[in-house]
Amino acid sequence: MSFTDDLTRRDVVKMAGAAGLAAAAVSQIDGFPAIQTVKAANDQVQFGMIGTGSRGSYLLKHLAQIDNGRCVALCDVKQDALDKGLKTIGGSPKTFKDYRELLAQKDVDAVFVTTPLFMHYPITTDALQAGKHVFCEKALVFKPEEVHGLRALAAQHPKQVLQTGLQRRYSKFYQTVKDMVDKGVLGQVKYIHAQWHRNMINKPSSLWTMKPGGDTNLANWRLYRKYSGGLVAELTSHQVDVSDWMFNSSPEWVMGYGSLNDLKDGRDVYDNVQLIYHYPGGQQLTWSGISTNQHSALFNAGRSEMGEIIMGTDGTIHLTVGEDIHHAVAWWYREPPKETQVEKDAKKKETAVAGATMVAGGASRPIPLLFDDLNITKNDSFLDREMKFARRWLYSKGVMVQEEDTNPVDTELSSFFQNCRDGKRPRADLEVGMADSIAVMLSNKAMDENRRVYFNEIDKMGLPGAKPAAAPAKKG
Ligand SMILES: NC(=O)c1ccc[n+]([C@@H]2O[C@H](COP(=O)([O-])OP(=O)(O)OC[C@H]3O[C@@H](n4cnc5c(N)ncnc54)[C@H](O)[C@@H]3O)[C@@H](O)[C@H]2O)c1
Repeated sequence: MSFTDDLTRRDVVKMAGAAGLAAAAVSQIDGFPAIQTVKAANDQVQFGMIGTGSRGSYLLKHLAQIDNGRCVALCDVKQDALDKGLKTIGGSPKTFKDYRELLAQKDVDAVFVTTPLFMHYPITTDALQAGKHVFCEKALVFKPEEVHGLRALAAQHPKQVLQTGLQRRYSKFYQTVKDMVDKGVLGQVKYIHAQWHRNMINKPSSLWTMKPGGDTNLANWRLYRKYSGGLVAELTSHQVDVSDWMFNSSPEWVMGYGSLNDLKDGRDVYDNVQLIYHYPGGQQLTWSGISTNQHSALFNAGRSEMGEIIMGTDGTIHLTVGEDIHHAVAWWYREPPKETQVEKDAKKKETAVAGATMVAGGASRPIPLLFDDLNITKNDSFLDREMKFARRWLYSKGVMVQEEDTNPVDTELSSFFQNCRDGKRPRADLEVGMADSIAVMLSNKAMDENRRVYFNEIDKMGLPGAKPAAAPAKKG
């Protein structure tokens, strides 16, 4: 591809070909061991939800639009949350305050665990033992002993689906970027930087605002370490998972700095987190989470808060996920191509004559990522072809933006039901969720203990007789 600022027709076609691999990626999960299929009388998976708070209700809003699942039961310890869940999903699901009663229902095939993090493990293990398929929100587990415990239990229940709520894995944009990384379109990808910055001073989020009652109020669970992994569990978890996926590995070690600088209202989780992850292949993820500013330099500052920059020797991707209001965006920047021998010789001659001059390289213009529905096929009519080319051209100029046909949350939900039926392993399966949870625990440990923490330390943590974690260092 020529390194010019103007995009040629040939460039666009080539780019679409390279990026249009998502459909192939989707089929790569074929071949996993078959597991039990749902025996619902109709074709829908009958599900219950445990925890109908903020995330539970959000998922119910999406679940109400999804055909292959049907809500038959809801549970929350709080009546107002239960009422909200019921109103959101509609119909007449049974309601419960005690999740064990929901799990005892024979007509419930699958459950969503959308409770605070500290309750994921007890509910997920009880659900597996009750014979249910489980969709558990991220982070899957909270403590090292739960890593060992859930792995062992899941191995005894191989016929039940266990999916983690890491929706980026279900985004066509992210799948396309993963394919680009795997196929070497970006050259050697050695560095990823991710941020999730929020302005909790000017724009406080209800989830992160202290409510009366401190740690005795369940609504404050995110703010206390006895219930939560703080910013790392709630935010980093999504992006370290993207990094693990792109690098095909868990990190080797993590180091970081965390402090509580501004939100000093009695909480004990950090409001400033800076992390460096080193991968066994020499790659690196840096992650930043702050609470006083939401600016992002990605997409020419066209979006705020969160996103990832994936940096390869031949190109860079700016990437962020879509949700109900904003759609996903992925921009591709090219790196200068390798110097040819002729260019090297010319440079040598120039340097010898004029002395060395350093000029910053010109910036490459971003190219929006396009999906394979824009690939030209032999069956396309002349008009189809011209329309596709026109759309690509408009996307490339930023006049139109290509959108995912579905929100990845819808895809993760319908895919869960599909897997309950077809027995295939979910993209965000137990091990994806486990790796993610381990990263959360070890990142907090690295910051608390001011040291580099190796990922293999998890093997010895949480076993009978293991030393309890050190108390967090006082900072900030
Ligand atoms: N994937 C994502 O993008 C995403 C986004 C937000 C939250 N989450 C995750 O979803 C989970 C829930 O977060 P949230 O924001 O909805 O919290 P929340 O506090 O708004 O809701 C949790 C609900 O669980 C209920 N609950 C607590 N213990 C219970 C129990 N024993 N039985 C039944 N119900 C119980 C609470 O009453 C509350 O209504 C967390 O793990 C969070 O990390 C994921």
